Amino acid sequence: MSLLGRVNATDEAAGSDDVALRVDHVSKTFRVHHERANSLKAFVASGGRNRYDDFYALRDVSLEVRTGEALGIIGHNGSGKSTLLKCMAQILTPNEGEIVVNKRMAALLELGAGFHPELSGRDNVFLNAAILGMARKEIEERFDAIVAFSGLEEFIDSPVKTYSSGMYVRLAFAVAINVDPELLLIDEILAVGDVTFQQKCMEKFVELREQNRTLVLVTHDTGSVRHFCDRAIWLDHGTIKADGKPADVIDEYTETMLGAEETSQGGAVRRGSGEIWVERVELLVDGVADAPVRTGSKLTIRLHFDTSEVVPNPVFAVQISRLGGAMVCAPSSRDGDAVPESISGKGTVDIDVADLPLLPGPFVLHCEVTGYGRQHIYDHLQNAASFDVLSGNTDEVDGLVTLRPTWQVTGTGVHGKIDKQ
Ligand SMILES: Nc1ncnc2c1ncn2[C@@H]1O[C@H](COP(=O)(O)OP(=O)(O)OP(=O)(O)O)[C@@H](O)[C@H]1O
Ligand SMILES: [Mg+2]
Repeated sequence: MSLLGRVNATDEAAGSDDVALRVDHVSKTFRVHHERANSLKAFVASGGRNRYDDFYALRDVSLEVRTGEALGIIGHNGSGKSTLLKCMAQILTPNEGEIVVNKRMAALLELGAGFHPELSGRDNVFLNAAILGMARKEIEERFDAIVAFSGLEEFIDSPVKTYSSGMYVRLAFAVAINVDPELLLIDEILAVGDVTFQQKCMEKFVELREQNRTLVLVTHDTGSVRHFCDRAIWLDHGTIKADGKPADVIDEYTETMLGAEETSQGGAVRRGSGEIWVERVELLVDGVADAPVRTGSKLTIRLHFDTSEVVPNPVFAVQISRLGGAMVCAPSSRDGDAVPESISGKGTVDIDVADLPLLPGPFVLHCEVTGYGRQHIYDHLQNAASFDVLSGNTDEVDGLVTLRPTWQVTGTGVHGKIDKQ
């Protein structure tokens, strides 16, 4: 059987009323500050308050996931997928409606959720597995298997705050699948692992499906939803836009997305505790602002920050996603080994990219300032910038990035080379 081979849920499961998870008229709002009152004038104009709105990340969402079902959830950036999954995992409480979970659940959510940065990998395994309902003795029995699956033997006694994003995910996934979940919720995070690890995860999924376990998978990778899920839901601005066979839902979604590129530009949305914040983001090409961005450009992403107090070891991060689509990368100053001991006052952060590998298309950029453990969010600016990449120093067109490959064709009967047309 191929790794991505679709495993059909057994007939009993598909036909039964055995509901693993029920989401009943759930709404979730966040308080969103549109503009910080930076100047005295703005402060006075706002009547001395910060302006905010209650923003519906989810609006009246109802669905049932049956036992043995693999449900894929798709939708554009900011459509509420992660929020829905966090509500299902009971990490967020809905403002209205109800969530009923009938199975032993494990959830793999955003990076870092659930790990304690100061503790070692080993301690976090015990902590996490205990939270997921395993007895200490059981954890001890499975500990070696968990570490082996993660491939982090060498690092298991280092504090997880020293782990890379990929290492985090490996450990989190290793714990989650080894606690024997009947219901597994997964948010995108597998995209962070390398190819070997992704393949290992896929094998594990197939195994779980064969055991009639229930999966809810949030992803921008419509290919894996098509192959792997037996049902798909399309979330759009916090509501369910379509629910049905993966092929139908994905086709509908893709068509709409293609037509929506021009119009889907929302404004920036800010959240976080606010001791330090990114005032604006500038994109410079060869040091010049507002110049066209091309594949191969020398690009600088410049974050202008301000602070209200001294902030200890702040980590800056940006995330680049295809408009309405997959995350392409999410580098941080921690990965880049550029975390100051403290920051106060104003300043800039330059993220220099020598030879931009993004292929032509529309992209959005989010940015974030967090504590060293990446859990405390000082500032998160969703849709901080959007930009179009124009064609540049490669003739490739499909996909999101170029690998800058070189090609060789060899064989006993291979002759000559035609000129590029
Ligand atoms: N803690 C929060 N405080 C304020 N707003 C939030 C919070 N979490 C999410 N939001 C907002 O709710 C909306 C939905 O976010 P969510 O993370 O669920 O989207 P998503 O579909 O997972 O997007 P992506 O594809 O980019 O992962 C966004 O506008 C986001 O800015
Ligand atoms: Mg998300």
